[in-house]
Amino acid sequence: MFSAINPYGHSNFHIWAIFKARFSVLIIGMKILLIILAASVLLKILIRILAKLHPSPAPAFIGRFLDSNLRRKVQSPNKLIHRSGIREGIQVLELGCGSGAFTTFVARTVGENGKVYALDIQPKMLKQLEQKLSKTENKDIKNVELIHGDAYKLPFDNNSLDLAYMVTVLQEIPDRHKALQEIKRVLKPGGMLAVTEHLFDPDYALKSTTIKLCQEVGFVLDEALGSIWNYTVRVKKP
Ligand SMILES: C[S@@+](CC[C@H](N)C(=O)[O-])C[C@H]1O[C@@H](n2cnc3c(N)ncnc32)[C@H](O)[C@@H]1O
Repeated sequence: MFSAINPYGHSNFHIWAIFKARFSVLIIGMKILLIILAASVLLKILIRILAKLHPSPAPAFIGRFLDSNLRRKVQSPNKLIHRSGIREGIQVLELGCGSGAFTTFVARTVGENGKVYALDIQPKMLKQLEQKLSKTENKDIKNVELIHGDAYKLPFDNNSLDLAYMVTVLQEIPDRHKALQEIKRVLKPGGMLAVTEHLFDPDYALKSTTIKLCQEVGFVLDEALGSIWNYTVRVKKP
């Protein structure tokens, strides 16, 4: 009787069985991946619809996730600082600072000659940032001022700040034009606004949408950096 034995001692039938088993594991894995992908797209659509029907800021309990090492791996603070044009000695507004995922990094970049105004509409978010700043490892930071405020009415004089930045915030604000006008008011002529968006955010908007919004209120595009996944649009007040 014919028996197909290969040099490794397996019959062709065994090789085929192993191949089939591995292939079905691959297929199952791909199916699971597709289900997860479809579920996250559906969840994103659902959150978007709910946000449109009932506009409200991101709940404060997500502050813990926002300010996590995992998040910083996906969205590097150094890259954000570089793309936003944040540098030593400037007066910066972080609008919608949340739990402060980026605040300490920015504070150290602007240094003791600079200042960071960390503003948020939710006291519970600011509380998380306050707790973070009170930790031993952040005791060196003395240039952050926490402000409970609203993007529509910023507590600053006209032409007083060098730079403002927002990370996954702009699309959360129902009247974006009003907020952008208000940011433009407080920036010095030549001052910069940096808007960063991340595809993970349910409110994500395309780079072109962000540029158009900023241009509609009179900002001039300086640079748009990054990919569809995570980008920063930097615009200038003329
Ligand atoms: C998705 S969280 C992002 C927080 C932070 N920028 C980050 O990336 O970790 C959006 C933040 O914007 C704040 N926010 C929403 N609308 C605002 C408004 N009109 N004025 C000020 N802050 C606002 C929310 O309270 C929330 O903390």
